[in-house]
Amino acid sequence: MSATANKTAPLPDDIRAMKGGTPIVSLTAYTTPMARMMDHHCDFVLVGDSVGMVVHGLPSTLGVTMEIMILHGQAVARGLSHSMLVIDMPFGSYEESPEQAFRNAARILRETGAAAVKLEGGRHMADTIAFLVARGVPVMAHIGLTPQSINTLGGYKVQGRGDAAETLLADARAVSAAGAFSVVLEKVTATLADRITAEIPIPTIGIGASVGCDGQILVVDDMLGLFTEFKPKFVKRYASLGAEGEAAIAAYAAEVRARTFPAPEHTFADKAPRG
Ligand code: KIV
Repeated sequence: MSATANKTAPLPDDIRAMKGGTPIVSLTAYTTPMARMMDHHCDFVLVGDSVGMVVHGLPSTLGVTMEIMILHGQAVARGLSHSMLVIDMPFGSYEESPEQAFRNAARILRETGAAAVKLEGGRHMADTIAFLVARGVPVMAHIGLTPQSINTLGGYKVQGRGDAAETLLADARAVSAAGAFSVVLEKVTATLADRITAEIPIPTIGIGASVGCDGQILVVDDMLGLFTEFKPKFVKRYASLGAEGEAAIAAYAAEVRARTFPAPEHTFADKAPRG
């Protein structure tokens, strides 16, 4: 039986088999209604540790805990029946040792029904990825801009320019050889993303990478335009829900102050209507 509670969803091996075919579609989700909205459109849904910034207003992903990931993982799992669920391992939950990583990955899979975990890091995480995979934990890797290492990367910069390209290529080869079933490439140059995609046998999932990747992922709140303050270059806004939502709230506030809401159709009479 699969590790996932989601019986009709693809499994990690199915995602791996999509290498070189129709691009893999994915988004992040943090809540049940959002998961329901994307369930029939995505091959997999990621509960990213971006939840810390997007939902909880944290300044980075570093403050995200196992409890936060599990709570949102359970919420998203309730909204999925077609998409595969992947959950991020938060900062500090896997870097210390393969054993620590296994303990926390097993907890995530057990308590959420997710099919796989994602963790950040290239060559230095290869042993941990191999350890997890050998013990039944499917792993999606994440290289390039890895937000949990923001303090050592020196900001949210494009990765893989110049000599750094060979290092990133080595990272991609290492996570693939270690048994990851796919790898997220975040904010790497398009040329390098294409080179990595051509060289490794597992699917690459781009975010700020290249249209040539085997799949794409975006933070759902970014692509729905729920934020109005900033927009990274790699985000395309498919809607402006932030602006629409604020306009709706302003209309509600005006109607409450003018006593035009609630209208008669929103209130209850003394006698219940017949029938
Ligand atoms: O945390 C996250 O949302 C992510 C994706 C954007 C890849 O890691």
